[in-house]
Amino acid sequence: MNKSELKKVNWMNSTMSVGIEKIDDQHKNFLDITNNAIDAILSDNQSAVANTLKELKEYAHYHFKTEADLMAEHEYPESGSHHNAHIDFHDKVAELENAEGEAREAELVSFMQNWLVRHISSTDKKLANYINRQ
Ligand SMILES: [Fe+2]
Ligand SMILES: [Fe+2]
Repeated sequence: MNKSELKKVNWMNSTMSVGIEKIDDQHKNFLDITNNAIDAILSDNQSAVANTLKELKEYAHYHFKTEADLMAEHEYPESGSHHNAHIDFHDKVAELENAEGEAREAELVSFMQNWLVRHISSTDKKLANYINRQ
């Protein structure tokens, strides 16, 4: 792949909002950090790339804790599979941190498109719908 395939993703309320403000705000931050990582790669700023990936990892811990607390509080029946998806994410970020050059760019694109956006619009939405129905 080349860098022209590295596309930033903007927040889209209609497909990404899960209907819980705290979670939506955190997802917006998640997208911002990922977009910053893309910017850093596009401008070939290696220290910024390392910093944004570190930030991504730390933010993920914080955000997944928020969702885990909500799942526990509401006794969410699908918390097991949701939790496993978050573990997969951590593996993905570790791969990103270890990859370099084009491999890292490809990983980041797949992360953004296949993981982050899909997880928000399906898995997280399902959790939020369950909470909002209670
Ligand atoms: Fe989430
Ligand atoms: Fe989630």
